[in-house]
Amino acid sequence: MKNRIEKDSIKTRKSIRTYTGGKLSASDRNQILDYINHAENRFGFHGNQIKIQLIEVDEMISDKIGTYGIIKNAPAFLVVSCKNSRDVLFDCGYVVERMVLYLEQNGLGTCWLGGTFHRAKLVEKITLLPDEIIPIILPVGYGEKKRSLSDKMIRSLAKGDSRLAFDELFFSENFMQKINDPDLRGILELVRLAPSASNKQPWRILMDANGDAHFYLKRTSKYAGAIGYDIQWLDMGISAAHYEIACGSNEFFVQTSKAGKEFDSLEYVISVKVDSAKSR
Ligand SMILES: Cc1cc2nc3c(=O)[nH]c(=O)nc-3n(C[C@H](O)[C@H](O)[C@H](O)COP(=O)(O)O)c2cc1C
Repeated sequence: MKNRIEKDSIKTRKSIRTYTGGKLSASDRNQILDYINHAENRFGFHGNQIKIQLIEVDEMISDKIGTYGIIKNAPAFLVVSCKNSRDVLFDCGYVVERMVLYLEQNGLGTCWLGGTFHRAKLVEKITLLPDEIIPIILPVGYGEKKRSLSDKMIRSLAKGDSRLAFDELFFSENFMQKINDPDLRGILELVRLAPSASNKQPWRILMDANGDAHFYLKRTSKYAGAIGYDIQWLDMGISAAHYEIACGSNEFFVQTSKAGKEFDSLEYVISVKVDSAKSR
């Protein structure tokens, strides 16, 4: 069984870039290791297993791993590695966001880092197979209440606190129609809070008459290939993790009639059926 993730962690999570510098306590270290060593926590919908390694660092190294000094005083990093394909990246987004929320519910701050870190400084510290990449690392530790100047700057640049309007993201039956059902709006509001690379929020969800959710990617053009992997597929996996946590248990499936079809610049990614017998 995977570890359980509480919905509240979605509401309280924010990217933490400034840490107190305090080392991980023995119990927190063990909790992190137990989580990442539990294989089920690292499997995504497509069946790919994502590798996550914990590396504790001294102060000298810590601030240099996150480039431009945006990460301050992190006592440790979680280094994520996987193969470089879309399905794997989707699973990676799903697996890592569940871990982020699990850590949040246990009082540990993190920040997804996709672009702004020194891969070279890490590769020597971890085991990486020839066909694997490190799409993401995350500092992990105790968030400092007073944020650094560079932290404030990056939050305001990425507009970290804002999200697109609900009705620009989620639709009922066609891409012209709003969602009116208040319960469904409540569930999707938790998807709206998902983190995404540069806060681009590329996920669009179309709910059909059966209650199935169809996930589409509205791609930001400059990202395509800019950092050697399709970072927005991580974002899609993250949004699916939020949807699953928000409505309880779900069954993921790819609808073959939609797969491969683009709809008005939207790329179909995946569908999710709510398993009402199991959902909370
Ligand atoms: C895939 C991915 C990559 C990210 N890469 C970076 C990064 O390189 N540097 C950074 O400071 N933040 C990065 N972020 C954090 C986002 O900027 C942040 O999630 C977004 O602005 C929303 O803010 P919030 O997480 O506080 O809600 C990344 C987030 C995701 C999901």
